Amino acid sequence: MSVQQQHATLNRTNDKMPLCGFGCWKVENNAAEQLIYDAIKAGYRLFDGACDYGNEVEIGKGIARAIKDGLVKREDLFVVTKLWNTFHSKDHVRAAFEKQRKDLGLEYIDLYLIHFPVPLKYVAPDQAYPPGWYPVSGPQKIEFECSPMYECWGAMEKLVDDGLTRNIGISNFNVQAILDLLTYCKYKPATLQVEIHPYFPQKRLVEWVQAQGIHITAYSSFGPGSYIALTDDGKTADPLLEHDVIKLIAQKRNRTPAQVLLRWAIERDIAVIPKSSHEERMKSNRDVFTWALDDSDKQQIASLDQGLRFNNPDSYGFNLPLFS
Ligand SMILES: NC(=O)c1ccc[n+]([C@@H]2O[C@H](COP(=O)([O-])OP(=O)(O)OC[C@H]3O[C@@H](n4cnc5c(N)ncnc54)[C@H](OP(=O)(O)O)[C@@H]3O)[C@@H](O)[C@H]2O)c1
Repeated sequence: MSVQQQHATLNRTNDKMPLCGFGCWKVENNAAEQLIYDAIKAGYRLFDGACDYGNEVEIGKGIARAIKDGLVKREDLFVVTKLWNTFHSKDHVRAAFEKQRKDLGLEYIDLYLIHFPVPLKYVAPDQAYPPGWYPVSGPQKIEFECSPMYECWGAMEKLVDDGLTRNIGISNFNVQAILDLLTYCKYKPATLQVEIHPYFPQKRLVEWVQAQGIHITAYSSFGPGSYIALTDDGKTADPLLEHDVIKLIAQKRNRTPAQVLLRWAIERDIAVIPKSSHEERMKSNRDVFTWALDDSDKQQIASLDQGLRFNNPDSYGFNLPLFS
């Protein structure tokens, strides 16, 4: 890929998906509208949201204001959101999607992902929204629901057929789950969104999935930062943004450590979705298309691989070794 390439072309629709978008996890509700507005002003065109982030109403307001003020048109934006685990039943996918679409205030979504391949017991939106991992009553333990993935995916495909989402995709699926999906799907997933950073480059998964014509998006490009309050590994791992290898490459290239981590993914044809609440970081995180890493930089970054995954339901105490 060329240094300047800023979009991926998705299978089936040929839609152009920005390679650098803005992540909406942990974007505070009271700051979200302004932050999204500012991110659009700073040039972001892809927003990565989810039911689970609990901020879609405010994100929708930021988008609406930016459109109203003439910063962008709807068709310039690429809005991604995700189906939560409690809505996998073929009888619940449509209503869950429609609530999210309404919350966002949009006529269509660009890409709708299944957040995790984990069907959890249904929770009605008037009981708890977003529902999270636990049922509303009973012990604090996850409860599965018998919703086969082929039915869930069929309902996702129906959203495409009805013109409600342009693309559909998956997140946190491993090769086994994807292989199964590929045996029955009418529409192949457009993208797979997974955790990827130098401590966890997922080399074989990335190669195999890309060879299937499915685009990869990396989340948590900066490694443990987002997991310090959530898991033991998040607490104890050396901060990636402060790792000497990353800092030295950044110094050599007159870039920030964050830019080095984002550029490293983009050079593997992987899209990135960094989140920042600071305007300067937000701006500089996007400046990853005018320069490149060289082979020596990439070799040094490759030495950081520790097979260290931070976003694992098992580490949250859910008794669910999802990736085993
Ligand atoms: N599919 C999934 O299961 C899944 C899971 C996790 C995340 N995601 C998606 O991926 C997105 C990104 O992942 P993430 O939330 O783990 O976060 P991330 O983008 O890897 O890291 C965000 C953290 O890095 C800090 N930061 C951002 N830019 C920086 C810079 N230039 N220098 C220093 N620190 C910087 C931010 O702090 P400030 O805000 O204070 O700048 C924030 O604490 C999420 O927002 C979400 O959309 C998806």
